[in-house]
Amino acid sequence: MDVLQTKESLAKELTQLKGQGRTIGFVPTMGALHRGHLSLVDCSRRQDDVTVVSIFVNPTQFNRRDDFEQYPRNLTSDLKDLEEAGVQVVFIPGEAEMYPEPDHRTFDFGQLDKVMEGHYRPGHFDGVAKIVSKLFDAVQPHRAYFGEKDFQQLVIIRDLTRQMDYDIEIIGCPIVREPNGLAISSRNKRLSAEQRKQAAQLSRVIFQARQYADRYAIDQLKAWVVAELNKNSEMDVEYFEVVDEATLTSVNAWSDAYYKRACVAAWVGQVRLIDNVKFYF
Ligand code: PAF
Repeated sequence: MDVLQTKESLAKELTQLKGQGRTIGFVPTMGALHRGHLSLVDCSRRQDDVTVVSIFVNPTQFNRRDDFEQYPRNLTSDLKDLEEAGVQVVFIPGEAEMYPEPDHRTFDFGQLDKVMEGHYRPGHFDGVAKIVSKLFDAVQPHRAYFGEKDFQQLVIIRDLTRQMDYDIEIIGCPIVREPNGLAISSRNKRLSAEQRKQAAQLSRVIFQARQYADRYAIDQLKAWVVAELNKNSEMDVEYFEVVDEATLTSVNAWSDAYYKRACVAAWVGQVRLIDNVKFYF
């Protein structure tokens, strides 16, 4: 496994591999790898000749400096996991490599980045778009893999790819869950045993809501979900939305869209968690 720190060395290696006719799959990450990330690597390994993983904690997508500084960093164990997973190339640039000068670009995603995460984390998706476009320029993969847990991010990256005319296939991979249903996230490590139990209610309740979909009007269902989740002493729901998967606009009646997704964000103690489930079969 080659571990590279500069765009130049990466380009050299990838030009050679592409010259041999090999297809390149790309998994961008911020490290602190878990089974969710490794499932993306697995998807790539099944489709591409070469899998490239980047590890870069991107400062421009954090709303708070302390959140960025406290983000977990486990390079040694990450590299071990990637080696065991059969990854051929890991890109670990420093900040000066990715941002040699400030990046003042702003992106227009219309409604897509105004709702849900975009509403509660202003500027976050501009930061994601900045780094993903820089990484796409550096790797120029055939395919790139993103988890459906960050569903809004996935939709925005598809839009970014279309706007920037990248010839990259964007693949969304299913959410990986703990046996109790909790969506796997690097933030889960910060939960106490009791908070983990309560956090598992997030997926339980949204899956249950899907069962109730035909019985209740959307507004009633939303109110039920929020009330049910907020019964947990440590939980504070930020939003629960049922949205059209393509536009991310709220759906007001079940017939408004076929491909609907229910998305939730909630604080469990000091930890902010997100989850989602598709509302079609
Ligand atoms: O999903 C993430 O881990 C990050 O947002 C990404 C796509 C690696 C960009 O920093």
